[in-house]
Amino acid sequence: MAGKTMHAVRYDSYGGGAAGLKHVEIPVPSPKKDEILLKVEAAALNPVDWKIQKGMLRPFLPPKFPFVPVTDVAGEVMDVGPGVKTFKPGDKVVAMLSFLKGGGLAEYAIAGESLTVARPPEASPAECAALPIAALTALQGLKTTGIKFDGTSSSSNVLITAASGGVGHYAVQLAKLGNSHVTATCGARNVELVKSLGADEVLDYKTPEGARLTSPSGKKYDSVIHCTTGIDWSTFEPNLNANAKVVDITPTLWTAISSTMKRLTFAKKQLVPLLLYPKKEDMEYLVQLVKEGKLKTLVDSKHPLAKAEEAWAKSMDGHATGKVIVEM
Ligand SMILES: NC(=O)c1ccc[n+]([C@@H]2O[C@H](COP(=O)([O-])OP(=O)(O)OC[C@H]3O[C@@H](n4cnc5c(N)ncnc54)[C@H](OP(=O)(O)O)[C@@H]3O)[C@@H](O)[C@H]2O)c1
Repeated sequence: MAGKTMHAVRYDSYGGGAAGLKHVEIPVPSPKKDEILLKVEAAALNPVDWKIQKGMLRPFLPPKFPFVPVTDVAGEVMDVGPGVKTFKPGDKVVAMLSFLKGGGLAEYAIAGESLTVARPPEASPAECAALPIAALTALQGLKTTGIKFDGTSSSSNVLITAASGGVGHYAVQLAKLGNSHVTATCGARNVELVKSLGADEVLDYKTPEGARLTSPSGKKYDSVIHCTTGIDWSTFEPNLNANAKVVDITPTLWTAISSTMKRLTFAKKQLVPLLLYPKKEDMEYLVQLVKEGKLKTLVDSKHPLAKAEEAWAKSMDGHATGKVIVEM
């Protein structure tokens, strides 16, 4: 597609939020050796996208300006590099793009073969674009606590905070597939919705019981997938069983220090900072679950690329119910 241009949304500097996004016409990129050129059908936003724009991951991300953000996409293969073995033009796929290159907020994007998987016709572009960061993090978090997805897990009590969010709504469904009893927290408006995802009991985080994280049925938790911020260890601790693991998916330096101290002192209740390490086999597993109707994507809202700033603002606001999607 040499010489062809495309519509893309990018930013030129740190900060600026939604107002910092610019609509531009730039050349369609060409795939190199192990790369795939996609016509993007849908892209999903994650908090990390605007955190990179804010400069929270500097000096590593973005590697340079201008930067076309967003990593999670679904689309159609248009062209492949000479080393690509498993895909051909016309294939429908889901991909997690490189954090270093971004590129998802555009009509065409470059994906690596190693994090691209086939998308079955039963699964829509929007519900699949939503999967990579959010569902992979939920799956990795649950696996970190020892939950297995091969039918061999014995029942455990799991607490999922911010269960109405991008990661949390997948964590609830996956924890149930892993044979867990799920206690979830969310705002009052989403209590019934989170129950419909499979949560056994739901706490409104703005009530005293919700703030204390106490299970309505008196259960102690074996694991916590902690998908929000601002909750101290002292709040978790009285609600935990002896060998519980609290997986913090928004770790800070304090999380790292506290986690290390607990390991050094042989504390039984562990705090585990998690950074996503995406794996193709996990993406394939998640897409298969969507195909079988066992994993649903809650879509907060869909926005056309021409109004990408509305999607950006919605994600930054921190109150999305499920995933914010941009359609091309
Ligand atoms: N470590 C990693 O690799 C990794 C990967 C993915 C995400 N993350 C991080 O994980 C966090 C969550 O990501 P996300 O995509 O799930 O975010 P999100 O979709 O933006 O989460 C929004 C949801 O959180 C709920 N919420 C906010 N505060 C809450 C509280 N105190 N208790 C219960 N629910 C609360 C909101 O409900 P209301 O509207 O009712 O307030 C809303 O539904 C972000 O900080 C993100 O950067 C890390």
